[in-house]
Amino acid sequence: MSTHPGTAAGVTLSVHLTPADLRSALESDVRAGLANHPPTLPPKYFYDAVGSELYEEITRLPEYYPFRRERQILQERAGEIASLTAADTLVELGSGSSEKTRLLLDALRASGHLTHYVPVDVSETALRAASEAVAGEYPGLDVHGVVADFDRHLGLLPEAGHRLVAFLGGTIGNLDPDQRHSFLTDLRSGLQPGEFFLVGCDLVKDTGRLERAYDDSAGVTARFNRNVLSVLNRELDGDIDVDTFEHVACWSAENEWIEMRLQTDKPQEWHLRALGLTTSFEAGDHIRTEISSKFRQAGMEGELMKAGYTPVAWWTDPDGDFAVSLSRAE
Ligand SMILES: C[S@@+](CC[C@H](N)C(=O)[O-])C[C@H]1O[C@@H](n2cnc3c(N)ncnc32)[C@H](O)[C@@H]1O
Repeated sequence: MSTHPGTAAGVTLSVHLTPADLRSALESDVRAGLANHPPTLPPKYFYDAVGSELYEEITRLPEYYPFRRERQILQERAGEIASLTAADTLVELGSGSSEKTRLLLDALRASGHLTHYVPVDVSETALRAASEAVAGEYPGLDVHGVVADFDRHLGLLPEAGHRLVAFLGGTIGNLDPDQRHSFLTDLRSGLQPGEFFLVGCDLVKDTGRLERAYDDSAGVTARFNRNVLSVLNRELDGDIDVDTFEHVACWSAENEWIEMRLQTDKPQEWHLRALGLTTSFEAGDHIRTEISSKFRQAGMEGELMKAGYTPVAWWTDPDGDFAVSLSRAE
């Protein structure tokens, strides 16, 4: 781990994921994922500088309701969240551009408690830009950005103050039920009783709306999806013909998740020379690049209770599209 104080006024940056760590995790994740049937790639590798920018574009698409719905809930409930938690430290997992976070920071600051903000993200470029912007907008706030992987580094989060841990954007849906249980349990074991967890969850709804949210008419989500293949080409010396893979988003009723895929309509073979790996595809084969689970209140609160939290509040937007859940570590 390296720490770089003084990146900009009020910002400290801790790096638990050096480029070498990222590279070795990428190598083992890609080897393991491509050996699955069908092959899979973990969604964290979408978010290089290009992918993080494309995600920001997705949040502005008319079809992508989750961002606006979650923001609407936070606009209405941030004051309540601040008074229920009385947190002085906001830790945010998968913070990205920290855009909606400003609503929480404003409310916590107005409550008079806020001293620290700890954004955590795998994307160093997004984290650095967001940390510096927040520090500039909130003079006196101690901003401690942490470049880390929430799948592996939850035990390394700073232990300062009375914490509210936020996990926004429906990112929890990228974990399958077993991964969610491990994530919630690991996070819980690093929290003190009485600290809080705030999580944004996209809800089960009409299949057409769900699929359109992940397959927009402007093709931005398709570019975001294919970008992971460009990451493999660049990082692992690959020869993937990126544009021959079609973006597919489909609803799995059995799992209640959207599945994003990259599918080839012709047989092909690619090489990742840095891994000495050749992968062959038949026409119609696909790689699963992301799942985005959709939730129901009873299911989400049951998972939280099983992992050692007590649900405190469940807020939805008026149309019941999205929910924000607040729970307390016991
Ligand atoms: C769906 S975006 C959500 C961004 C922001 N929280 C929002 O609500 O708009 C997911 C974010 O989590 C980050 N991320 C994905 N997997 C991660 C991991 N395993 N560890 C840390 N950050 C991760 C990405 O870089 C990205 O910024």
